[in-house]
Amino acid sequence: MIKNKPIYILGIESSCDDTSAAVICNGKILSNVVANQEIHAKYGGVVPELASRAHQQNIVPVIHQAIHQANIDKKDLNAIAFTRGPGLMGSLLVGTSFAKSLSLALDIPLIAVNHMQGHVLAHFIDDETQQKPPFPFLCLTISGGHTQIVKITDYFTMEVIGETLDDAVGEAFDKSAKILGLPYPGGPLIDKHAKLGNPKAFKFSKPKVDGFNYSFSGLKTAILYFIQKKVKEDPNFINENLNDICASIQHTIVEILFNKLKKAAKETGIKHIAIAGGVSANSEIRKELKSFEKKFGWTTYIPKFEFTTDNAAMIAIVGYLKYLENDFTTKNNTATARLKVNEN
Ligand code: KG4
Ligand code: ZN
Repeated sequence: MIKNKPIYILGIESSCDDTSAAVICNGKILSNVVANQEIHAKYGGVVPELASRAHQQNIVPVIHQAIHQANIDKKDLNAIAFTRGPGLMGSLLVGTSFAKSLSLALDIPLIAVNHMQGHVLAHFIDDETQQKPPFPFLCLTISGGHTQIVKITDYFTMEVIGETLDDAVGEAFDKSAKILGLPYPGGPLIDKHAKLGNPKAFKFSKPKVDGFNYSFSGLKTAILYFIQKKVKEDPNFINENLNDICASIQHTIVEILFNKLKKAAKETGIKHIAIAGGVSANSEIRKELKSFEKKFGWTTYIPKFEFTTDNAAMIAIVGYLKYLENDFTTKNNTATARLKVNEN
């Protein structure tokens, strides 16, 4: 039997506040190292200037560790894939510059990756616990910066059919958490407290938005006013009701997300439904989506936890898919803060 020649790609991700490097071999992840930046917790959100400094500190050890864990030598690498955008400019520049220098030093090709395509295409990582979606499928891409329903007809043919008109869903989680006095990023903490609370304890009105689009800024304001009013009546309100508040906020957000996703599935007739992005780590979202298999005859695709929040494995898989198509970039390519999912 002729064996496929191993193709090793190094993926580098530095678009926001996680420095990550991964090595992929023919679609299988050999290492996926992520350094989280704890510095932002005390500021209640990502401070761009501090993020780029922390990337500078982390990038060399993270890449070194990824190559070491993959048990290869850097000379074995066939190409380097890096996140070109979207993201914070100062953060992107660290990964982009490092990728260029390393590709120059090793004399191997460079591959530019769209971070949003990375979240979606993480579903194509070879992993026995993960089923790959067939085309066409819909992907609800939910993160700290994005909330989109994307129709994917091929690896690199993606169309946004619905998206948020204001805040991203991750922001809705994080800003709600901040109102409750929880540290950044608050999404995972709301999820944790919600597990112990009653999702019907408090009611928040849902936005009315056309088509498959979303809006989360009204919800954030509604939560702020609700909490201010309750705390005025009882200064211990948050402490005494934290689990119920979190469960009610989370439940409202999940209903908003799925109302539009159900509508999109119905109107497009597509029943292969995936989720991606940091917020897809949410336990209620994962559970609820699974329940739609029986309810609506959907086949659902839920990424492994380590491929939900920002990671370089998702950049490496896009790098591998582009490598197979000889889709390389030049050393003149620049990072870009704004990049749509269908752009490269
Ligand atoms: O994809 P990601 O790591 O970064 C961006 O590209 O934005 O997403 C980060 C977002 C944050 O808003 C974080 O609070 C949210 O994902 N998040 C969650 C959970 N885990 C991460 N939100 C709700 N429940 C979770 N379990
Ligand atoms: Zn992301």
